Amino acid sequence: MINLRSDTVTQTSLQMRSFLSQAEVGDDAYGEDKSVNFLQDYCKELFGVEDALFSTSGMLSNRLALLCQTTPGDEVVLDYHYHINFFDSAATASICHVVLNTRSTQTGILTVEEVDKALQSKPRYYYFSQVKAVVVENTINGWVGKIFPFDELKRLRLYTQEKSMALHLDGARLFNAHVETGISLSDYASQVDTLSVCFSKGLGAPFGSILLGKKEILHEARKHRLWLGSGVHQSGFQAAAAYYALKHNIPFLKTDHEKTKTFKLSLEKIEDLELHPDSGSTNMIQMSVQNSNLSSQEFIDACEEQGLLLFPWLPGIIRAVVHRDISEKDLHRAVKIIKDVLGKKNE
Ligand SMILES: Cc1ncc(COP(=O)(O)O)c(C=O)c1O
Repeated sequence: MINLRSDTVTQTSLQMRSFLSQAEVGDDAYGEDKSVNFLQDYCKELFGVEDALFSTSGMLSNRLALLCQTTPGDEVVLDYHYHINFFDSAATASICHVVLNTRSTQTGILTVEEVDKALQSKPRYYYFSQVKAVVVENTINGWVGKIFPFDELKRLRLYTQEKSMALHLDGARLFNAHVETGISLSDYASQVDTLSVCFSKGLGAPFGSILLGKKEILHEARKHRLWLGSGVHQSGFQAAAAYYALKHNIPFLKTDHEKTKTFKLSLEKIEDLELHPDSGSTNMIQMSVQNSNLSSQEFIDACEEQGLLLFPWLPGIIRAVVHRDISEKDLHRAVKIIKDVLGKKNE
């Protein structure tokens, strides 16, 4: 199977397995897991932040960030396409008890002007909902892996500071933005109050995310992580895999982006297939089969029958994600399968 459903499907490499099998672990509930502590210290340096907290998933890190920087009933402004809304709004509402004020921007980029519009769009007497946090995403999964512009992040930083709002960056794929822009991880971190990054996407670790920020925020986050049942005792094996991924796998993301651009060029030539213009910004492609007479599910099923797995994003829209376990040969085959499936429907 050629699995382009997501970059979360990346397999733990033999080298990574061998490295994590040597990990020194302890009980992280007592703060005694050496591999977890080592990873957290390493990330503090790498991102230039006061504190770091390893957690099981990107969704958990995002929730911790909101739990620590809002109180129930507060409002959080973000673009409608960002993961915290698009996939995670139910859990965010039920666990963080915040109102998501979602903006449908034309570009996927949440600007200062858009946040200000959100702020001004309702009365804000003290007994109404107050905007306490702004969330941005980089790269933007719901916008085909588009990179959030650094200058816009800097503007948001100034604006949110002035308005006493927290700024959280969901950087599940920040490493993809980093290799493409050359902007350092610490420069990104310096512009936000909290930042979450994932090791289990293109970097190829089996699980794990880290929440980064000020000591006082992460002190709270440790409590909430436990409350949410994610006090994993010997998580050092996972932390070691995450460390290995950070040390060895970041540069390969650039190769993923190059493969994606070539893949895009071939897909653009296929009749009946329309690509989202931001496809190939990093490692994602979004294609519409709305011009064919196949539904997305029919298209996906037919591709699967021939050995290609794709992700149904929305009706008529399909996402493909290129990652380290996909070769150029796989992508050639993927193009052939897609052509074949769309060709057959006219017969
Ligand atoms: C932008 C973004 N944030 C958060 C997550 C959630 O990460 P996890 O699956 O580790 O919970 C994802 C997952 O794909 C994502 O794309």
